[in-house]
Parts: sequence; C-alpha cells; structure tokens
Amino acid sequence: MIRKAVLPVAGWGTRFLPATKAMPKEMFPVIDKPVVQFIVEECLHAGVDNIIFVTGRHKRPIEHHFDINSDLEKHLEQAGKDDLLKNVREISRLTNPIYIRQKEQLGLGHAVLVAEPVVGNEPFIVALGDVIIDGEENVIKRMIEIYERFGKSVIAVFEVDKEMVSKYGIVSVKHIEEDIYLVEDLVEKPKKEEAPSNLAIVGRYLLTPKIFEKLKVTPIGKGGEIQLTDAIRLLLEDEVVYAIKIESKVYDTGTPLGYLTTLVEYALKREDLRDDFLRFLEDIVSKYNQQTGKA
Ligand code: UTP
Repeated sequence: MIRKAVLPVAGWGTRFLPATKAMPKEMFPVIDKPVVQFIVEECLHAGVDNIIFVTGRHKRPIEHHFDINSDLEKHLEQAGKDDLLKNVREISRLTNPIYIRQKEQLGLGHAVLVAEPVVGNEPFIVALGDVIIDGEENVIKRMIEIYERFGKSVIAVFEVDKEMVSKYGIVSVKHIEEDIYLVEDLVEKPKKEEAPSNLAIVGRYLLTPKIFEKLKVTPIGKGGEIQLTDAIRLLLEDEVVYAIKIESKVYDTGTPLGYLTTLVEYALKREDLRDDFLRFLEDIVSKYNQQTGKA
C-alpha cells in the first residue's frame, strides 16, 4: 500500500522572479485555486493521504493555506457566505500535512532525500508542486496499480516536441504492454542531438525506498544540483524501473508562459467564465491582428 506522497516545494522559482521573491510559485492561483492544491487533491483522489511537503523559509503561505483560518471562517459565517465558507473549511480539512525544511536548495533529488526520516522504509510518491496533470485518469492511481503488479518504481512520462527535450529529464524505454514501459536509461536535460527519445519525465514518481541509498551517493549534476533523475539512473543498477506513458494534459506552471497557458485553458474550462472570457480573447486577438496587419 502506498500511503505517503512527498511534494517538494522548496525551490527558488528563479524562472519566475521577481514574483517568487516573497510568494511561492506553488501558491500562484489558477483562477482561484493555488497550483499546489491541485496536486494535493490528485494525491488524495489516488488514496494517498499523508502529504509531506518539503519546504523552505520562503514558503510559509503553503502552510497557511492548508491550515484552519478561524477568523476568516467566522467572517464568512457572519456574512452568510455559506458556499465560500464550505470551500475554505474543506481545504483546511483536506489533509493533515507534514512539513520538513530543506535548509539549502540543493536540487530536487536533495529535497526528496530530506524527506527520508518521514517516509521511512516504504515505497512513496513524489509529485512536483508546480506541475498540474489533467486527464480522465488519475496518474498517481495508475502508477500505484503498476506498482501493485510489479513491486518496483514507476515514473510517469509524456511525449514532448523534440525541440523541448533540453528542458526535461528524458528516458529511453522498452515497450512492455499498453501504456507500460521498462526504463533503460535516463538523462537530465539533454541537448536535442543527445536525447535518447522524446519521452520526458512529467513530475510524478513512485519510488522504492532504495532511492534514498542512491540519493546519498548521487554526485552533483546539471545546474549544480542533486538531480532525482541521476539517482534513478543509479537505482537502475539494482532494480528495474517502469515508466507509464500518459496521454493527459501536462501544465508546467513554473514558467511565465506555462503559467499563462494554464490560466487561459482553465478559464475556458469554467462555465461561469467561459463565454465572457472567450469573447474577450476573440476581441483582443482580432484587434491585435488589425494593428499588426495580420488580419
Ligand atoms: P524546479 O526546477 O521546477 O523548481 O523543481 P525551481 O528550482 O524552484 O525552479 P527554477 O528552475 O529556479 O525556476 C521542481 C520542483 O522541485 C522543487 C521546486 O519547488 C518545484 O516544485 N525543488 C526544487 C525543491 O523542493 N528543492 C530544490 O532544491 C529544487
């Protein structure tokens, strides 16, 4: 049984400075819900309800978000705003979170290693705090099913444009059946000509506890950080690792363009916003085209 999910949310978010100087990118709103809440809900829907946040000094708003805010609840109650009250109460009762500090931002691999004392000797999920996955199937749930069958680590991958491979961890794989593959090799952010495939690691991992042993000896990698991809590569020396290829939409909210496209798509999913927002978009695009002579 998989009971624990590690959500690393301690990164600097340099690609989004200066917005991330005082505000965690994981708390950026997708309309009215912070990114990290989507990820917590994904874990809970998969039946994983011990959420371990690996956090840092500048990430306090995340802790407040999942805590009870009695003053706000009292205010909403007095104002008769029952729907909002229900929503706010639900968030604080979603999960009993566990917070651990990553004192130095030494990379995703290091952030996962910091969680070892809480995870202990059991398999666990790692879900990146700035990647939303939206599809019919819950990816974490599917990864757990594969773990239950094979008893080994599983990483979620998706196809990316060849031009984009240098932004991701890339895997080479052997197909087994349907959406399941065996991982043969992994490389973090390869150059386009050196990428073994266009299958990119999405930001959802199910890892056996042996990964901790590997993380302790993983040398500093790309970007001067301890990379989880490099540790999984070491894990391959001792254990097979499976990959699941997902068809769901992946929203990387950690860059300005990724965040912007996420906002637009989620606005168009919302019945209360769709029509007005679409009209606004059509209008602005046509004005832009007229101004630039594209129409
Ligand atoms: P990213 O590489 O997307 O986050 O890591 P970052 O380092 O904050 O971003 P940039 O590159 O500076 O813009 C993926 C996830 O891992 C966490 C981040 O918070 C993010 O959710 N992370 C990363 C940590 O928890 N600790 C780290 O040392 C690095």
